[in-house]
Amino acid sequence: MISSEHDLLDQVFPLDTTRDDAGALVIGGASCEELAREFGTPLYIYDEATLRAACRGYTRALADAYPNALVLYAGKAYVDPTLLQVAASEGLGMDAVSSGEVRVAQAAGLPLERVVLHGNNKLPREIDLALELGVGRIVVDALEEIEIIDELARRRGQTAQVLLRLTPGVEAHTHDYIRTGAVDSKFGLGLDSGAAEEAVARAMRAPNLDVMGLHAHIGSQIFDTEPYADTVNITLDFAEHMRAAHGLDLRDLSPGGGGGVRYTLDDDPPDPADIVAAITSTVLARKLPHPPRLLIEPGRSIVARAGVALYAVGTVKHIPGVRTYVSVDGGMADNPRPALYQSKYAALLANRTGDGPPETLTLAGRYCESGDVLLRDTVLPPLRRGDLIAVPAAGAYHMSMASTYNMVGRPAVVMVSDGQARLTRRRESDEDLLAVFP
Ligand code: LLP
Repeated sequence: MISSEHDLLDQVFPLDTTRDDAGALVIGGASCEELAREFGTPLYIYDEATLRAACRGYTRALADAYPNALVLYAGKAYVDPTLLQVAASEGLGMDAVSSGEVRVAQAAGLPLERVVLHGNNKLPREIDLALELGVGRIVVDALEEIEIIDELARRRGQTAQVLLRLTPGVEAHTHDYIRTGAVDSKFGLGLDSGAAEEAVARAMRAPNLDVMGLHAHIGSQIFDTEPYADTVNITLDFAEHMRAAHGLDLRDLSPGGGGGVRYTLDDDPPDPADIVAAITSTVLARKLPHPPRLLIEPGRSIVARAGVALYAVGTVKHIPGVRTYVSVDGGMADNPRPALYQSKYAALLANRTGDGPPETLTLAGRYCESGDVLLRDTVLPPLRRGDLIAVPAAGAYHMSMASTYNMVGRPAVVMVSDGQARLTRRRESDEDLLAVFP
């Protein structure tokens, strides 16, 4: 396992991760040891170059194959204004799912016409804010939303540009908890049930809605490209049928996000260019007289690899003949994914190369729950209090899903670039947590 360090640095950690002469991990030119000293731990480190490269993995592939396209970063994976500024400067827009995410986009100066508002139960005040701020598209996720959005737009004297979210019934091979495209889903308008057609008919009649196109999202951490081609074909078949039946003019087509990433060396995700190719070749093969604009919504595959979680080792507990628990100063509150999805991660000792033969140990969190384990039975050099542990592929769905369980504030976040680190989200203090009580 230790001999896999080279492969982990090469394939799972951010693009430019090395060790300095003292053995400390260096990410984007910044030493993990110095970052820990300056910003404390747990610390989330995002590498700007890796983030930009991930954005370009999509934008370049689209520029070649299908220039009439927009990549919408799915902000649920993680947002802060600095990160969004980087994504915006790469030409990306954003998929937002709450007024809070819309407001971060606004704070980042991301042009709001490049934002799409999603959600299976958007609050009327969130829809109204989207109309007020000029959010580019609102996605109708349920029949009831047609009247709600139409009425809110009428009150403002506006026309809302909407997409209709279909439930195409495509099965993406991924964890059940995060599958959203199957027929049995709280998301979207079913094709078989007739809800999708009824939505087209009703939305086309709504005086304050302009139906710009169709959306479908089939799941997350997807490792195959065929489900994307299937989704595009199903959606385009439906669009053709709706054009004949109701006069739908398909100007936008969104096959969602979901591209998988490598958390450990066992994962073999597709290249974003392969996902783009599956989508664009399927659309182009239809030889449509007016091909729609493509909207693609990657979240995880934009930010996961750019992010590393850095923890400090505390208590080490040997249970002879059973197991060694090494507890770090973070855990399930900043990374709920192992507890929620049984997700597997890798880890490296980050402040030194280690001495002594590697040991099998279990990396536990600090939270008061036995299930708070980040890595079970992993192999690392013998660890001692104060050592730093780096967990790669930590950029997506960690900080965005983080809680303040046990009244522990959430970690700080920094972005590193050319050896410089800037704080992009400060650590929550006890005072921050206490401030909510009247
Ligand atoms: N578009 C829509 C409509 C979505 O629902 C999602 C994710 C995305 C785009 C972005 O998917 P991505 O490219 O990030 O896979 N918390 C789970 C993932 C939940 C994904 C929910 N929807 C996890 O940690 O694995």
